[in-house]
Amino acid sequence: MNKPRLVISSGAGISAESGISTFRDAGGLWENYPVMEVCSADGFRKNPRLVHEFYNARRKDLVDKQPNAAHKILAELEEDFDVYVITQNVDDLHERAGSSKILHLHGELMKLRSVSRPDYVESLDMEHLESCPETKGKNGDYMRPHIVFFQEPVPNMELAAEWVHDADIFVVIGTSLNVYPAAGLLHYVRPGIPIYYIDPNPADITILSPQVHVIKAKATEGMKILEDILRARSPI
Ligand code: OAD
Repeated sequence: MNKPRLVISSGAGISAESGISTFRDAGGLWENYPVMEVCSADGFRKNPRLVHEFYNARRKDLVDKQPNAAHKILAELEEDFDVYVITQNVDDLHERAGSSKILHLHGELMKLRSVSRPDYVESLDMEHLESCPETKGKNGDYMRPHIVFFQEPVPNMELAAEWVHDADIFVVIGTSLNVYPAAGLLHYVRPGIPIYYIDPNPADITILSPQVHVIKAKATEGMKILEDILRARSPI
């Protein structure tokens, strides 16, 4: 029998309990850094060094962080569900927790890509972070963070929309739903499909999606609640 298809849309809140700052909560990254200077196409053209330094600081911050129970439960749910993770996060905590199908909407922190040839991507390893910011790749190309900056299109959005459309259950975790097109994924959920939204301070999305069940809790606690709900539903 086919496993039910569980599609997740995660944001910064799922990594908060791993010790990674969110963006828009009090004390979040965008309170402390000028977003359009460190994370926009114009900002990178104007001052690439500042942008490399910002992302290098994020990389160094990620080095000693570990996946938390919410990431791990999602990976474990693959036993009983066909789990697809769409994440706005640029960290690699879903990968390290063991999830197998992951789509990064806003890029990946531990990668650089060529400015002139967007298909050329290099992975960074934790041991070589001290030599960053790297402006040149192994092949001599000028490199940029493998991040989707503001003012740039989101290349994985089309595939993400397909995944959401095919969901049997859709789960949103730890996002303020402020940033489009990611926040618009909800519109691709088919009518009648249950939606769960885990967040201690959730946005009001009941107008967008009357079928949403809000679990007002942090990610680790909320995922345990959701796991119980899902296992009770699961025919396995
Ligand atoms: P935000 O910082 O906008 O929102 C974080 C959400 O996480 C809020 O709704 C919080 O209530 C929630 N939250 C905080 N602690 C939590 C916890 N322990 N468990 C669960 N939820 C918690 O982050 P995003 O919505 O992910 O893009 O931001 C979207 C995009 O904006 C990011 O991908 C980034 C940023 O600009 C780029 O950098 C391109």
